[in-house]
Amino acid sequence: MTDDTLDPVPESPFRTSRLEEAEGDGSNPTVNPTMGELISIRFSRRGLLKGSLAVSAIASTVGPMALLSAEKAQAANNSASSGSAFSFVEVEAGVDETHHVADGYDADVLLRWGDGLFPDSPAFDPKNQSAEAQRRQFGYNNDYVGFIPLDGSSEHGLLVVNHEYTNEHLMFPGIVSIAEGKLKVAPADLSRVDIEMAAHGGTIVEIRKVDGKWQPVREGKLNRRITSTTPMQLSGPVAGHDRVKTKDDPTGKQVLGTLNNCAGGVTPWGTYVMAEENFHGYFLGQLPEGHPEAANYKRYGVPEGTYEWGNFYDRFDLSKESNEPNRFGWIVEVDVNDPNSVPKKRTALGRFKHEGAESIVARDGRVVFYLGDDERFDYVYKFITSGTFNPNDRAANMDLLDSGTLYVAKFEADGTLNWLPVVFGEGPLTAANGFNSQADVLIETRRAADLLGATKMDRPEDIQPNGVNGKVYVMLTNNTKRKDEQIDAANPRAKNAFGHIIEIAETDGDFAATKGRWEVLLKCGDPSVAAVGASFSTDTTRNGWFGMPDNCAVDSAGRLWVATDGNNPKDTGRTDGLWAVDVDGEARATSKLFFRVPVGAEMCGPLFTPDDRTAFVAVQHPGDGGTDWAPFGRPSYYEDLSTRWPDFRNDIPVRPAVVVITKKDGGKIGV
Ligand code: FEO
Ligand code: CA
Ligand code: CA
Ligand code: CA
Repeated sequence: MTDDTLDPVPESPFRTSRLEEAEGDGSNPTVNPTMGELISIRFSRRGLLKGSLAVSAIASTVGPMALLSAEKAQAANNSASSGSAFSFVEVEAGVDETHHVADGYDADVLLRWGDGLFPDSPAFDPKNQSAEAQRRQFGYNNDYVGFIPLDGSSEHGLLVVNHEYTNEHLMFPGIVSIAEGKLKVAPADLSRVDIEMAAHGGTIVEIRKVDGKWQPVREGKLNRRITSTTPMQLSGPVAGHDRVKTKDDPTGKQVLGTLNNCAGGVTPWGTYVMAEENFHGYFLGQLPEGHPEAANYKRYGVPEGTYEWGNFYDRFDLSKESNEPNRFGWIVEVDVNDPNSVPKKRTALGRFKHEGAESIVARDGRVVFYLGDDERFDYVYKFITSGTFNPNDRAANMDLLDSGTLYVAKFEADGTLNWLPVVFGEGPLTAANGFNSQADVLIETRRAADLLGATKMDRPEDIQPNGVNGKVYVMLTNNTKRKDEQIDAANPRAKNAFGHIIEIAETDGDFAATKGRWEVLLKCGDPSVAAVGASFSTDTTRNGWFGMPDNCAVDSAGRLWVATDGNNPKDTGRTDGLWAVDVDGEARATSKLFFRVPVGAEMCGPLFTPDDRTAFVAVQHPGDGGTDWAPFGRPSYYEDLSTRWPDFRNDIPVRPAVVVITKKDGGKIGV
């Protein structure tokens, strides 16, 4: 959650929990029309309350007591929902120390923070952690999960996992004190910073199903850790530009590491793409007075100063190195077939707080990537390669991401969608507005999109094309800063605390089209509270509704699965989880809870193997928070944790982990 009214964690003088929470009011200062006056064309505003009344009504109506007293009968088998594509016994929404999956399924921990990934990996020793050990172990705060089959198998492949950020108060012993009920974290030393940097990035690890149970293969020849110091190459239009040259890299082509890798994707040619999201938090210090990058950095919220790395490494201190922030905020592509390959930052896909990069091959063979910029009032994008995908020649696809066209979405009030090219020389993207090349346009993608008049969205997260029904699903997680006069057709709720999901149909079902149609699939939140204005189907139970859609997946049958970020005891009476959402037929907009996370966690992943018999989910920041959960009722930190999931050992702290879900009878998930 990024929202002041819903934030369950007391303000820390240092840092509360997640970097995602540091987004403030959004950094988009422009005044593109919000179409508020046109909204009645498509949507009723019935049920919306004005101002803070709406939020206080929500908070008081959906208290945990109300939910705890809900009829347990609602948790009974509701698989008979008419026309639903899903049949499983719904999990009961709630909050406790552990995870829960629907009856008839196993949910086993596959990889935890600190687990060894190589034959020589040191055992996890949280009281004596080192950067050297961490570089050989599974990183922190797993987010995106991808699966790249080996030999075409759904039971043997490479798991690729992003490690978005670190929670020091949960990771390190002896650094937290409590003052007036709030966490205070001691300043970092170099050794801690090096561990943090090693715990970021990604993991590539071979996994295999043996006797029905998935396990990591430590001896896997392709196993790899990517961190905040892994050498990478800038490629595409921005490579070598003056604005990305630094003291350490006068070529403007060689970057160390990747930051805040949130969601991502696996390309049709089997590479792993990692989205760099909240990179602003890693920079501190001030630019020299009158520096030409000042306006650019302001638009991205740089520097935010969440991490202290700049106290030890000059490149993260703007007063010592002014161009380093321009080298982050990109999509990074990793060739997983060579553990020594140099990851490439594909600058053609634009620079913003990239949430994910899910892709699909269009009818003509070009490849389309859907991209969200996760900030209040920022935009939805897509990138279409110039070249076409060659399924018979992997090598021929390896630089497809260096050339193509980036588009930004304009959601019109009449339900049409226009994809506007973010291309130097077109429309306002000229020298008159300070752009002298496509590199300039890409470095300042947000400002270019502002000038084009793109639609300001309620925090675009994962965006998933669905090759089965030809649609695209856009997760919009929330935006409580949207005022009444700022609502528009595509963002129809002021003070949008619970988010919504938009469904796009590209013209003629062609993912490479530059026009389409759109509609709201779901407005999230408790449908029984009129003030919320949620729009789940009436078959959706008390357990089935959710708030704050974030990551999502489409399985091979074209069914949508939504993972959430921000449900908590205080605001929704439930933890985050994985919900199955019908998108077709009479059950459309029916949602059911399939899996839920331990207290304090956020649900990431999710991902299905091609045979739909395995689902991977990532449990991120379990045990964070704590004050909002009455049975605990105080800040959670290393020495006093709200949960010790998944080991439940007094000598082992809570650990983010990837969980693998299979059906006990070996069948397809959710069927
Ligand atoms: Fe890292 Fe937008 O969630
Ligand atoms: Ca997230
Ligand atoms: Ca996804
Ligand atoms: Ca989120």
